[in-house]
Amino acid sequence: MTKRYELSELIRNDNFIDGQWVAAAKGNRFDVTNPATGEVIAQVADSDAADAHAATDAAARAFPTWRDTLPKDRAAVLHRWHALIVENADGLGRLISLEQGKPFSEGRGEVMYGASYVAWFADEATRIYGDIIPQQQRGKRMSAVKEPVGVVAAITPWNFPLAMIARKIAPALAAGCTVVGKPAEDTPLTAFALVMLAHEAGVPAGVLNLISASRENAVPAVADWLADSRVRKITFTGSTRVGKYLARESAGTLKKLSLELGGNAPFIVFDDADLDAAVTGLLAAKFRNGGQTCVSPNRVYVQSGVYERFADMLATRVAALKVAPATDPAAQIGPMINAPAIDKIARHVDDAASRGARVLTGGKRLPELGPNYYAPTVLADATPEMQLSCDETFGPIVPLFHFDDEAEAILAANDTLSGLASYFYSQDMRRIDRVTRQLEAGIVGINEGALASEAAPFGGVKESGYGREGSKYGLDDYLSIKYLCQGGLE
Ligand code: SIN
Repeated sequence: MTKRYELSELIRNDNFIDGQWVAAAKGNRFDVTNPATGEVIAQVADSDAADAHAATDAAARAFPTWRDTLPKDRAAVLHRWHALIVENADGLGRLISLEQGKPFSEGRGEVMYGASYVAWFADEATRIYGDIIPQQQRGKRMSAVKEPVGVVAAITPWNFPLAMIARKIAPALAAGCTVVGKPAEDTPLTAFALVMLAHEAGVPAGVLNLISASRENAVPAVADWLADSRVRKITFTGSTRVGKYLARESAGTLKKLSLELGGNAPFIVFDDADLDAAVTGLLAAKFRNGGQTCVSPNRVYVQSGVYERFADMLATRVAALKVAPATDPAAQIGPMINAPAIDKIARHVDDAASRGARVLTGGKRLPELGPNYYAPTVLADATPEMQLSCDETFGPIVPLFHFDDEAEAILAANDTLSGLASYFYSQDMRRIDRVTRQLEAGIVGINEGALASEAAPFGGVKESGYGREGSKYGLDDYLSIKYLCQGGLE
């Protein structure tokens, strides 16, 4: 039977290494705060290179046994973990809200989203096939088998504190890899709770290890993994700047990398779009997690014929969004994660307004709610010179750009170094085919704003990174192919 925990029981503040909860070697701690109020929720281990190294020692020791565990037995452990996560969805959802700020309904939704990856990869664990290669020479048999890469380091962001780590750990464990992990310093508690449930589900000691570190100590801790040749793969979700650092620094030990980096998603509304559907799709895509989502539309291109009507419809719906603390059952948008995040949003809006953007709704902080709240905002007459057109805002801001024809929209949409998600709305089948082929992005939403699914390959092109998470492709990054050539058969 799966156990349901109280919220207070889910909060752990030590590292989890080799099946034990342990303080950081130097005994240091740092504060985790509630972004809604600034109150300290917990003081967690502030780890450095020594703790990272101890985690790798444990993961390297555990690897041979976990690798040789039968896939159906690994699957059974993952299924038990899934059941525990689902049983504790309310508590985990509340914990996400507490340390990350998203409304409870979204926090709980994230738990179920993260859990879906665990169930998916539990099943995939039993479907890791190889190939018999058609015979090339008499007396020789050739085949290809897939093997786990080894110890995996998972470094995860604060915006989806449960789903992002679940969709890295689950495929790693399914493939037979062992894991060392570090969640973002803003949101380590959800990750620790998840690891606690994994342990209870039967993940053996050393197979899954998690350390937390403050912003200052994260670099030496991660640097230890980058330099350690026992760590064979890094999986990271976060900024392009950090992704490039990881790629550079891991080159010394030539690790396998999967990088899910920043986006700057275009959202195109053509004259022939169903405007109601486009507004609804944009709201779903843009305001999920208050816009703090890598696939969130950052630039909205609207064709001249429908521009003013679309802007009016959108501004009316956005003005009605309820901004409130996560504890308010009616909340649709919570606080932003921290002071630098809200400062960046305010800078982008001020810069756009100073360059001629019209504020249709929002455009201001909401200090009456707390330090990190910003009103959902629609800006008309956005132009490419504005900061928000080339830099991901990561907040509840919708800038509307004008365009006249399809070629202009495609050119503008692709005029970015990023290539994660893109979206467009049109009812013309031929246009849909043309635009889909030309958009430079790993993910395309066609008349749809809600793209997330464990069954779909998530990942980008260009400077949004490489590798895919979820889907039948999601295990590939955790496996290497071994070619077997057997001779003397005649
Ligand atoms: C992200 O923001 O990095 C992930 C969002 C998603 O899974 O849809």
